[in-house]
Parts: sequence; structure tokens; C-alpha cells
Amino acid sequence: MARRILVTNALPYANGPLHLGHMLGYIQADIWARAQRMQGNEVWYVAGEDAHGTPIMLAAEKVGKSPEDYIAQIRASHEADFTDFHFSYDQYHTTHSPENRELATAIYQRLRDGGYIARRDIQQLFDPERDMFLPDRYIKGTCPNCGTPDQYGDNCENCGATYAPTDLIAPYSVMSGATPVLRDSEHYFFELGKFESLLRDWFGGKFTGGKPVMDSGVAAKLTEWLDDGLRDWDISRDAPYFGFPIPDAPGKFFYVWLDAPVGYLASFKALCDRNGVRFDDFLGADSTAEMHHFLGKDIINFHGLFWPAMLHGAQMRTPTALHVNGYLTVNGAKMSKSRGTFIQARTYLDTGLDPEALRYYFATMLGPQPVDVDLDLKSFEERVNSHLVGKWANIASRTAGFLHTHFGGRLADRFDDEGAALWAELLRQYDGVEALYEADEFADVSRRFVAMADTVNGYIAAKAPWVIAKDETRRDELQQVCSFAIQAFRLLCGLLKPILPKAVAAAEDFLGGPIVDFADARRELFGHTVNAFSPLFGRLDPKRIEAMIDASKESLTPAEQAKAAAADAKPSKKAKEAPKPMTDAAATETATISIDDFAKLDLRVGKVVACEFVDGSDKLLRFELDAGPLGTRQIFSGIRAAYGEPEKLVGRNVVFIANLAPRKMRFGVSEGMILSAGDGGADLFLLDADQGAAPGATVR
Ligand code: 2FM
Ligand code: ZN
Repeated sequence: MARRILVTNALPYANGPLHLGHMLGYIQADIWARAQRMQGNEVWYVAGEDAHGTPIMLAAEKVGKSPEDYIAQIRASHEADFTDFHFSYDQYHTTHSPENRELATAIYQRLRDGGYIARRDIQQLFDPERDMFLPDRYIKGTCPNCGTPDQYGDNCENCGATYAPTDLIAPYSVMSGATPVLRDSEHYFFELGKFESLLRDWFGGKFTGGKPVMDSGVAAKLTEWLDDGLRDWDISRDAPYFGFPIPDAPGKFFYVWLDAPVGYLASFKALCDRNGVRFDDFLGADSTAEMHHFLGKDIINFHGLFWPAMLHGAQMRTPTALHVNGYLTVNGAKMSKSRGTFIQARTYLDTGLDPEALRYYFATMLGPQPVDVDLDLKSFEERVNSHLVGKWANIASRTAGFLHTHFGGRLADRFDDEGAALWAELLRQYDGVEALYEADEFADVSRRFVAMADTVNGYIAAKAPWVIAKDETRRDELQQVCSFAIQAFRLLCGLLKPILPKAVAAAEDFLGGPIVDFADARRELFGHTVNAFSPLFGRLDPKRIEAMIDASKESLTPAEQAKAAAADAKPSKKAKEAPKPMTDAAATETATISIDDFAKLDLRVGKVVACEFVDGSDKLLRFELDAGPLGTRQIFSGIRAAYGEPEKLVGRNVVFIANLAPRKMRFGVSEGMILSAGDGGADLFLLDADQGAAPGATVR
């Protein structure tokens, strides 16, 4: 019996163009959905925009548009990209829709009525100039661990430390520059902890007949979080916010991640209203239909913890499976704007590269585990040209002409003995391709394809129809050989159809009819007449690939180019593990300051009178310094990884900034900053002052 399957792919934020990293997971979803249709299943594939939240609200404001106009414009660009990459979703929608408002509200009300929503006051940083609470990413300041300025409120890009925004030294609002103040606000929380046993049951396949709902590595990560204890999830945000209001809670809005996955259901609801499909057949608590989510590994917490719990708490079904993809790298490295490898989907298309080349290349690298995929541009060119032009299209282009010239395009009425044996061998290799697609084993599908194509090309090369064609007495043989090749070509078309929908559609025109499903691809075409052949797949031109890289660099404004270069020069979190010396170029990029700027710093010598570990922090050491006329100073310094024996520091001199505003930290007040050199982590070295320097002496 045909399975009933709802497929979703993660909804892109409506605040910027799609890039090839987005395309990786989306292409995986589209190939899977197409492969399910090829098995005769009832598939509803839904997609759309993730349109709410502070970043979108502010981005719209920045360009002087209403959020509605802004997201509409982004939506149009996303839809154009999806269309041009041959996506086959049945519905494209948005989280900013009446359907989503209705569903998010109803789900929330059910959770509230079920006793899963708590309310309590929290303290949060507030921008007094903009009159709004600040999300962590909108607060910057000096890292409390390594002292790097201009770090975000949740983690330090230099040393990788994570902390609360209230731990930042000299915090400021990214929007106004004002110093944020702490304010109370009532927030609404989803009590996730109440779903622990549900989640364990779900991971264990209780609702899927024992079938795993996700890759075992992903399940292990989620289980780790479960074992650590689930904290309540803050689902409310204060006005101003672009989102849906929480019922009976003036000034409160649903956090974007509350209504984002509900957006899948909203998109499906819009489809149901249009097509007469029954929503509850798919979403009801006792639904026998399937629901498959495709998503990136960075959002497994939302899909693997909050989302199934929300659905269950709202008396709906849980997901059948999460299909998780890794990140995309280009030429072995993180996508980089300055290197031109941060490639937008539109730039790829505009350069004239075939979208199916990318679909195919990704497929050759995709499996069920969320491993990162590298778009190595040289391999991309070589693999696509070798596999699709050299191995696949070539089968038909080398044989179709003889059939037309000598037989009016008509295929032979039967296989000869050799052909029959080889056909059986090909069918054996084709067996099980459905299961490979089902299990996200697309790389295996492509390996099968290559093996089968090599078999067929080997046969053609051995038979050399171009030689047979010269001998009028060997016409039957010529028809046999070419017919077999075309028949095998059709089988390969069936195998590739989910990956190359457009090229296979062109092949179907040549073959004179569609391949309706994986089984149909096995059908023999004895006596069938094919149409004229025209080229199916052009070779990838390396010049276009170069042009794409150049265009990706050019699409940046000068300011963006400078920013991108600076970002690329910045040490990544990995650099912390393997510190590298600063390059000369990076070293000379430091802006100059005037002597007056330097004079603002009150640098002093301090003598360490006490130094110890800080309970509850794996980064900090607590220092007590004798600062001479300034008295004793307590300073917390994030150098624990570099100085594992703090007591040994007692008695030595250090240099510290004495006029830094005192900073209240979780462990006490820090009254200054001790200077050290190095890249962070274990690579930090305290500055010293030679013997004779008095405590409190000014450093000039
Ligand atoms: O991470 C993201 O890009 C989100 N916009 C994905 C949302 S997926 C779903 F929940 F809407
Ligand atoms: Zn830091």
C-alpha cells in the first residue's frame, strides 16, 4: 500500500539570499521527496519562509521598509532560486501567515491548558535609547575571559568562551551604542523537562515501530542533553518584536523558534485547503502517515527536543524521522567572502552553471550521517564532466544516431543472448536502489550508477557500433548493440531521475515517454521507436567556475570586502587549540591611536598577594594585587588554562589596567584587567615588571 508522507525542509530566514550551504540540505530533501514519489508513495513536500524575529525586524527598518514588504521581497528571491534549482515542493508558504498564526496560537493554548507553560520574571539587558530588550547578539563588549574587545553577548570569537551577556566587560548596545541596563520582564516558558520520558520513547522508536527516528550520532547528542537535564525554554519576547502576539499577554510575542516549525504545518495547511487533503490524517495523534523533517545539524535541538515535545503536548503526532545534514565547505575550508567561496545560489545560476551539476555533485557526497560536505571546485568540474557527460549522456549520444540512420529510430524486438545476460546483470545492480534513497544513501546511489554506466560503456566500446555500421551485412547486430545501449540508458535515467529531474525529462522526450517510477525503469522497450537525440548535459566549463568565484567577490561592497578580509584574518575557535603567530599583514592592520588615547589607560604594576582557582569557572583565576597607593585590587582573569598552579604566581609582578570600570561578575567584582600576551587558551603569558618596580607604579 502506498505510504502517505509529509516532507519538510528547514525554512530559510527571510533576511538574506540563499547560498550554496543552504542548498545542500534542501537538495537532499528534494531528492528524497522525488525518490519517494518514484516509489508510488503519496508525498506532500512543503517549504516556505521563516519570517519572524528581531534580525528581520531590524533589517527591514535599516532599509526603510515595513517587515511585511521586506519579507515579501526576500521570499520572491528565495522562490526564484528554488524554482531554478528544480525544487519540487507542493507548497511554498511563510510563517507570517494566517494559517501559522492560527496553528501557533492553538498549539500554545493547548500547551498552556495542559500545564506546560510557566511564567516568571527574568532580568535582561535593555537598551534605554532604543527602548527595547536586547537579544544576546545585539550586545557587545570585552570578553571577560581573554579581554578581546567587541565580542558578542553569548560567546567570544577569539577564545571561544561562552558566557552570559551580563558577564561582558564594558557592554554596549550594537544598535545605539548605549550602555544597556538590567531590567525585569515577565517571560513565558515551555516546561520541556516534563517531556523527558516522551523524548526518550521517541528516540527509542516507540512511535515508529522500533525504527530509529534519526542517525545514531544525532540521537547520542540529544540524549546527552537529556541526561544533563532539560531546562525550561523561554518562548516569549517583549515588544517591539516582529512575530505573533501571545494571547492574553499584552506586549508579549512568541519567540521566532516557537512558530518556525509550526510553519511546516502552516504550509501544509495551506496545501490541504487548496487540495482537499485532510490535515488531521497527517497530524492527528493517531496518524498513520509519516512526517519527515530535513534540517542542518546546527538546529537539532529545536527539531529533536522542543518540536516533538510541543507536538505531543498539543496532542499531535511526533515526527517519523529527522534527516540531518552537515555544513558545506568550499575547497576544503569554511565558505569565505574574501576568497569568493561564499557563493550565493543566484550567483551560481547567473554564471550559467547547470543547477543539476550541483545537485549531482552533492548527491555523490551525501549520506545519512550529518558529515560536512566539501565542494572541491576541481573535483566538481571533473566528476560532473566524467560521470554525467562522459558516462551517462555519452551512452545515448554514441548510439542513437545509428538507430535513426538505419532503423527509423526503432529498437530491436528482443535482446540477443549476450544482451539478455548483461541486462540481467544491470537489473541486479539496480536492485535495491529504492532502499538506498530511502536511507539517504545518495552517495551509494551514485556509486551504483557509475558501476552500471561503466558496464554499459565497456560493452559499447567492445562492440564498437561505429565499426559495425560500416558493414551492411551486420545491420541486425548494429540494431542489437544500439538498442541494448538505449535500453540501459533508460534504466540509468530511472536511477538518476530524483537527482537530475530536468536532464532526465529531456531524456524522456528522447525516449518517447516518461519513466513513471523505479519499477517502470526496468521495463523493456522491444520494438519501441525513440525520438531524435539532442545533447542532455553540457560539459562544465572551468571558466564559468572561475567567473562564479570572481562574481562572489565582486558582489561585496568595499566595506563588506574589508570586513570579510578582517573576518578571514581573525583566528577561528580552532586557532585556540593550535595557536598560530599573527601574520605580518594582520599585525600591520592594527589601527593607530594618538598619545592621548594611550594616556587614557592607567596601567600599573601590581604585586600578586593571592591567586586561586574560582569555583564554578573553568576559565578564571582570582587575583589579589597589592597596588601600592591604590590599595588592594581583586581581579578575575581568564588565564586558568595557561596557569594551572596559581599559587606559584604569588609574589610576582604583573601589569594591569587600573581605571577600567569595576565589573560585577557572578563570582564577585573585578577591579581591573591583568595584561597578558598570546592568542588565548593555554597560549597566554603574563606581562612582568623587573624587580624594583614598586606596587602601584605607573606604566608609561
Ligand atoms: O536556522 C534557520 O535558518 C531557521 N530559519 C530554520 C527554521 S526551520 C523551521 F523550524 F522553520
Ligand atoms: Zn575571549
